[in-house]
Amino acid sequence: MTALSSGSSRPLHGRCRVPGDKSISHRALILGALAVGRTRIRNLLEGDDVLRTAAALKALGARIARDRNGQWTVHGVGVGGLVEPGEILDLGNSGTGARLLMGAVATHPFTSFFSGDESLRRRPMARIVEPLTRIGARFVARDGSRLPLAVVGTASPMPIAYTLPVPSAQVKSAVLLAGLNAPGETTVIEPVATRDHTENMLRHFGAQITVTATETGGKRIVLTGQPELKPADLAVPGDPSSAAFPIVAALIRPGSAITIEGVGTNPLRTGLYQTLAEMGAQLGVAKARIAGGEPVADITVKAGDLHGVNVPAARAPSMIDEYPILAVAAAFAKGRTVMRGLGELRVKESDRLAAIAGGLRKCGVAATIDGDTLTVEGKGAPPKGGALVAAQLDHRIAMAFLVLGGAARKPVRIDDGETIATSFPGFVKLMNRLGTRIVEARR
Ligand code: S3P
Repeated sequence: MTALSSGSSRPLHGRCRVPGDKSISHRALILGALAVGRTRIRNLLEGDDVLRTAAALKALGARIARDRNGQWTVHGVGVGGLVEPGEILDLGNSGTGARLLMGAVATHPFTSFFSGDESLRRRPMARIVEPLTRIGARFVARDGSRLPLAVVGTASPMPIAYTLPVPSAQVKSAVLLAGLNAPGETTVIEPVATRDHTENMLRHFGAQITVTATETGGKRIVLTGQPELKPADLAVPGDPSSAAFPIVAALIRPGSAITIEGVGTNPLRTGLYQTLAEMGAQLGVAKARIAGGEPVADITVKAGDLHGVNVPAARAPSMIDEYPILAVAAAFAKGRTVMRGLGELRVKESDRLAAIAGGLRKCGVAATIDGDTLTVEGKGAPPKGGALVAAQLDHRIAMAFLVLGGAARKPVRIDDGETIATSFPGFVKLMNRLGTRIVEARR
């Protein structure tokens, strides 16, 4: 484990790109593997999470390679064409990789074994096991349906109509990917809309999928099973969840002004940007365009004073991964920021609710948890910092507290910087090029 320390940053300046979107990268590989023929992918996120999905798909029969220019090629086996893996599928830290692939294999007639790192083995899988069991798969799992587990795929899948009990794009996607190899129509109803990259990409690969609004403001997604997916090249947009870290770092360090090019702006991912604007941030969006079926733009941000706001629970699905870094912005803002509806944060790579509040308190910021509400009191001035924060195998906790350290009164250390590579390889280099001072530290 490499410990990192982040001390007083220079003002951040410059233009940069962040690595490819993690959610879209997983899906590009999986759908490429389920298409018939060759798909080429540019700007794939080469983070550990996505590399694990690539390795698992290879074990399931797809041919996947990277060329010298960083372009990835997937030779897909077609819907229903995956083969029994001869090894345990180890998805490392990746909940998305594990859950989406469990969906894909659930309707293939073979048995596969899934495992992951200590963090992933703690995370709940019942939310996947339940709908996939209805489709016909069987599972042998530890208490609480946790990994390691075995999926016994079904040879005669049932198409189901499933209403999501939790707003989870991973659960939605697992059901849709299972439904791909079921006859007839698989329906997912989501009472609250979550990221729709799976739907967009299914369309991109030629599947028949319709999405309509429900009377209660949700979505009804209907997928026709057993299509022949056509290979479809694509370029992965920059990850808005990764861009969030340099953006907040620039916002809270006076004198900063940066531009991040080619960031995904899918409205189901941009809740943080809306919230920061409400807090008084000066954000500019330019060169809006569509790439690979997803909206993309260049985002400019200038440092400025922020004030506390109320973040409604309804916004959580569109910024579910951004609360650690929003809480850091709130620590520098003037006044109270109240973030509601954060129950899902307890089952992410770490218990993020506890990790955020605990880390902030160590850094001299008043933060309280009441049920699924997090409240952060900002003084409109840099907090003390000067703490050692445990990353807990959680890349976003690690990055959020390094950003805090850059503008706090004293440096902040994290115990494990390696976890950052799951979603943002090159984070330290990119941030330091913009102006931060993040260095290896003794623990
Ligand atoms: C993801 C969905 C979200 C998010 C995760 C990626 C996805 O999880 O937290 O980082 O790619 O579908 P849930 O859908 O379980 O909330």
